[in-house]
Amino acid sequence: MPLERLTSARQLSIPVLNEIFSQARKMRDICKSQGRTNLLADKMIGLVFLEPSSRTLLSFQSAAQRLGAGIVFIQGVGSTSFEKGESLSDAIRVVSGYCDLIVARLPKSGDAQIASDASSVPFINAGDGGNEHPTQSLVDTFTVSEELGTLSNLQYTFGFDPLQSRSIHSLCLVLSQFDNIGFDFISPPELRAPSWLVEQCKNRGIRVTESARLADLKNPDVIYLNRLQEERFPDRSLFEKYRYEYRLTPEQIPASTRLILDPLPRVDEIALEVDQLPIAGYFRQAQNGVYIRMALLAMLLGRAIA
Ligand code: NCD
Repeated sequence: MPLERLTSARQLSIPVLNEIFSQARKMRDICKSQGRTNLLADKMIGLVFLEPSSRTLLSFQSAAQRLGAGIVFIQGVGSTSFEKGESLSDAIRVVSGYCDLIVARLPKSGDAQIASDASSVPFINAGDGGNEHPTQSLVDTFTVSEELGTLSNLQYTFGFDPLQSRSIHSLCLVLSQFDNIGFDFISPPELRAPSWLVEQCKNRGIRVTESARLADLKNPDVIYLNRLQEERFPDRSLFEKYRYEYRLTPEQIPASTRLILDPLPRVDEIALEVDQLPIAGYFRQAQNGVYIRMALLAMLLGRAIA
């Protein structure tokens, strides 16, 4: 069945992933050879971003415009009818009359499903609260696949806020389909990975360990870090307690490490000196966001490139 609505990384089976990656490589060729195309010149994309965003918003804008599509957008609740008390369902229903596909970043867990149900056009979840970020998981897995040539037989370390990082949640869901994978979660005790995620990974045969000490870094192939999700802490003192304690420096990186990723923004979780290492892949990862999002827009609008 063709992908029409992307609300969760649970929809990203290995065949779907392979198709998206193949389209993304074609999009990269287009960007490098001609910069843009008119594949979606007759389409209008609606971007509804009610939470802060730089990379996801700009890479979707860049993707839409490189494909020749027009854009309508809402950025932040301040200037919209949400301020007047309009429901998410009503707002999305209206926006879906103005465009051919909606991309939405929404503040609460579960909002993506509500919005997708209300939309009469294809829908993409660009992050719903602390729940999921499926397009980021595509960017991440595409980057691992391009840089290491495989998504199987890899040991991952995830830090440092697996409880609240939607990027880590979606990425683990996608990766857990591959063979011979291990996940080591490193976080303060209060920010351990949610039990539903750990259960699901274990049920799929993933080796899972959890530790509170950065010094316990085992022998990862990939280190995937994301900042402590400051805006999601119910108790700010907890954020202040840990913000400088969990920071990766070059000396702490085990020799086994082949790639370091971060969905960005980087705040305190990676020391600046790490940027000089060839295995620091996070800026290349951000660049891949445009190709993946071009692929998604084309595929969800039934315009995959032959
Ligand atoms: C992530 C997000 O918004 O969840 N950023 C992104 O989309 N690249 C990670 C984060 O904000 O920490």
